[in-house]
Amino acid sequence: MKRLNVAIVGATGLVGQKFIQVLEQRQFPIETIRLCASDRSAGRKLLFNHSEIVVEETAPESFKNIDIALFSAGSEVSHYFSPVAAQAGAVVIDNSAAFRMDPDVPLVVPEINPDDIKSHKGIIANPNCSTIQMVVALYPLHVVNPIRCISVATYQATSGIGSGGIEELELQSRLAIEGKSVTPSIFPHQIAFNLIPQIDVFLENGYTKEEWKMVEETRKIMHAPDMAISATCVRVPVFIGHSEAVQVEFESPMSPEEAREILLHAPGVKVIDNPQEGLYPQPLHAADTDDVFVGRIRRGGSSPGTNSTKNGLLLWIVADNLRKGAALNAVQIAETMIQRGWI
Ligand SMILES: NC(=O)c1ccc[n+]([C@@H]2O[C@H](COP(=O)([O-])OP(=O)(O)OC[C@H]3O[C@@H](n4cnc5c(N)ncnc54)[C@H](OP(=O)(O)O)[C@@H]3O)[C@@H](O)[C@H]2O)c1
Repeated sequence: MKRLNVAIVGATGLVGQKFIQVLEQRQFPIETIRLCASDRSAGRKLLFNHSEIVVEETAPESFKNIDIALFSAGSEVSHYFSPVAAQAGAVVIDNSAAFRMDPDVPLVVPEINPDDIKSHKGIIANPNCSTIQMVVALYPLHVVNPIRCISVATYQATSGIGSGGIEELELQSRLAIEGKSVTPSIFPHQIAFNLIPQIDVFLENGYTKEEWKMVEETRKIMHAPDMAISATCVRVPVFIGHSEAVQVEFESPMSPEEAREILLHAPGVKVIDNPQEGLYPQPLHAADTDDVFVGRIRRGGSSPGTNSTKNGLLLWIVADNLRKGAALNAVQIAETMIQRGWI
């Protein structure tokens, strides 16, 4: 198998570190690897497959002879450097929101729309973390019985905002326990021992940007431009792992048993659904794993006893936001390209 020259932009960040781990664990066919970040990290040494690699400041020359450039350094860096990398001949797989809704850029979850990769013009976008885990769980059901409507409430970990989010939860938890005053810096309010129903800024339609990403990205990935979707995204004091309470309405009736059976065979999904034994997905258990976990599958609607809403289901979906929600999905895109001879 041909070995590839890979660059990671944002290699010192939470997602960048996961990139390194995922590439190592999956024995991705690497010829050379280049680790890039900001000037603050230039000269730092990181390990890749037990070898020390010196971190470089990201520059146009970083992409010379690179086959695949994995970006996780925020939208501004992606906006500037992704076209530069693509121009230099690399295929960019971008974790930021910079190009996700660009009609010329495929937005890909390999379990769902791998063929979209073919239309890329040098840049492929990785969806938002909360979107990825939801569509991995819902798409196999949608294929059998089209989804008309999705309503989701998320419970998102602090690592979703980067390493600063983890540090802020740690610090605030310690201060709050010691009875000291807490001054929020990364999050808009105290996150320790609290919930914040705001992720990113508010839009004119009353949604936050994060909520609207879930709406637009889900429609683009599932090729369902008219699907009715509403989302409420909430930051919770959890370090790793996003959880989602999802209500779905199908075109025709779908029983919990049928949904469970479909999801048992769905790629990337693990069903944990035995509430009587206290078994259901939890972020603590999903952290550092690859699967999207689904449980609490039951009828939706207000009168489940009377089965008044046979077309509706409720599901509880949990996944590691740094792995399937970011680094793993991007590496799977690259693996799909290799397997199908597209690179
Ligand atoms: N965290 C998640 O769950 C998640 C999920 C999906 C997508 N994403 C996306 O992934 C990206 C990174 O997230 P993260 O959680 O890894 O954040 P992070 O922990 O804050 O890391 C940010 C990375 O970006 C680098 N960087 C910052 N400014 C730069 C510049 N001017 N030039 C080059 N590199 C620069 C940083 O390098 P220094 O160390 O040198 O500052 C660091 O490596 C974001 O676009 C985010 O939206 C994150």
